[in-house]
Amino acid sequence: MDGNGRWAKGRGLPRIKGHDAGSKAVGECLEACQEAGVAYLTLYAFSSENWKRPVAEVEGLMFLLERFLQERTREMVKKNIRLLTIGRTDELPEKTRNHLLEAIRSSAANTGLTVILALNYSSRVEIADAVKSLATQVAAGTLSPDAITPELFSQHLYTAGIPDPDLLIRTSGELRLSNFLLWQLSYTELYITPKLWPDFTREDFCKALEDYAGRSRRFGGV
Ligand code: FPP
Repeated sequence: MDGNGRWAKGRGLPRIKGHDAGSKAVGECLEACQEAGVAYLTLYAFSSENWKRPVAEVEGLMFLLERFLQERTREMVKKNIRLLTIGRTDELPEKTRNHLLEAIRSSAANTGLTVILALNYSSRVEIADAVKSLATQVAAGTLSPDAITPELFSQHLYTAGIPDPDLLIRTSGELRLSNFLLWQLSYTELYITPKLWPDFTREDFCKALEDYAGRSRRFGGV
């Protein structure tokens, strides 16, 4: 969800106002996903690297996330949305964690759109965690190194049980992956738009889906 800072700067506003506008764009994106019948939406809401930002911005982001959950959980549950997280959420502030746990618990039985919030997420840490988990089993003698396949490896990632993304939308024209789902994006179609995240509308989302629908996916075959 890139471009919140630039959106604010362009209006002479503090960065947090851009994140506030970005949270509103999240609501519209959820509605667009439901209308289009999307099964999984993963939002990169806070990376492990984002702790390097000024304390006030980090606190502001946690507040916006808590407010979003407070205001939207009941509606999401009613709309059959299931909420999950990926990332080291145990390192988030306790208040934020409690809001997340409540939203995850109350939406657990839902069968519609699954919304996955990547929070305190780093793909490299995720991969290292998976390696550690497999290495521990090998060291204990309960797993043979020969049994380690890409499929088994996937089952040790935070995204175990979640299909790899079909489409990655990157806003604000950035041309990099920024430590996001590096393993899972191997065959994902990329859609880069110059639009800043707070300006990314339902129509922009539909345009991305239309673009995706025109792609030919060969997964390395012919
Ligand atoms: C990147 O923009 C965005 C973030 C680091 C935070 C995204 C968080 C939210 C939209 C709000 C909370 C989340 C939810 C799910 C309600 P940037 O600050 O890097 O922008 P820039 O590239 O223009 O500087």
